[in-house]
Amino acid sequence: MKSLLFISASPHRRGKSLRLIHNIISHSDFQADDVNILLPHQYSIQPCTGCEYCRIHHKCKIDNDDFHKIAGYFTSFTAVVIISPIYFYHLPGTFKVMIDRFQPYFYQNNHQPNMFRGMAVLYGASRGKKLFDGAQLTLKYFLETINTDLSFCYNMREISEWSDFTPHLKTIYKKIGDIPWN
Ligand SMILES: Cc1cc2nc3c(=O)[nH]c(=O)nc-3n(C[C@H](O)[C@H](O)[C@H](O)COP(=O)(O)O)c2cc1C
Repeated sequence: MKSLLFISASPHRRGKSLRLIHNIISHSDFQADDVNILLPHQYSIQPCTGCEYCRIHHKCKIDNDDFHKIAGYFTSFTAVVIISPIYFYHLPGTFKVMIDRFQPYFYQNNHQPNMFRGMAVLYGASRGKKLFDGAQLTLKYFLETINTDLSFCYNMREISEWSDFTPHLKTIYKKIGDIPWN
């Protein structure tokens, strides 16, 4: 069963990441049996407090927010595609808050490296040389925590309007169409 999970990381109501996902779904030739889209900002997730409870108990002390609903998305995917804008040289805060809550998974001893495929498509408005460095490292180690490798990261600079994606779309469709399913 090939189950593809898209994560749309822009918290903006008319942000471009969700539109890009719908566009990819209708144009890219990937062979998935099942497609889900996760919008992290639509969930109420408390930030990790760094209490380290999870280091001993392998679960989070916070059990009265929406994180368990998010975690459900991560039990069944075989490939994940993360689409995110850059905010202050990093991932949007709403998405980073979700990622930090995966710390209990880091402490669980069931890691099987490179089991699933992960891909990222990142975009920002400027041309900064190091624009994607922080986000890319975070995604690499977040995915590693959930037994997934970051197979590729496609980065786009000078993206302010939807039309700025135009020269990139064919490459993105191809990259996602070529997902190396396990
Ligand atoms: C809070 C915030 C911080 C941003 N920081 C950066 C940045 O550091 N570098 C950059 O190139 N663009 C930055 N941008 C611009 C966005 O990356 C760009 O406008 C992007 O197209 C927004 O995508 P969205 O509409 O899908 O959220 C920032 C935008 C916001 C709202």
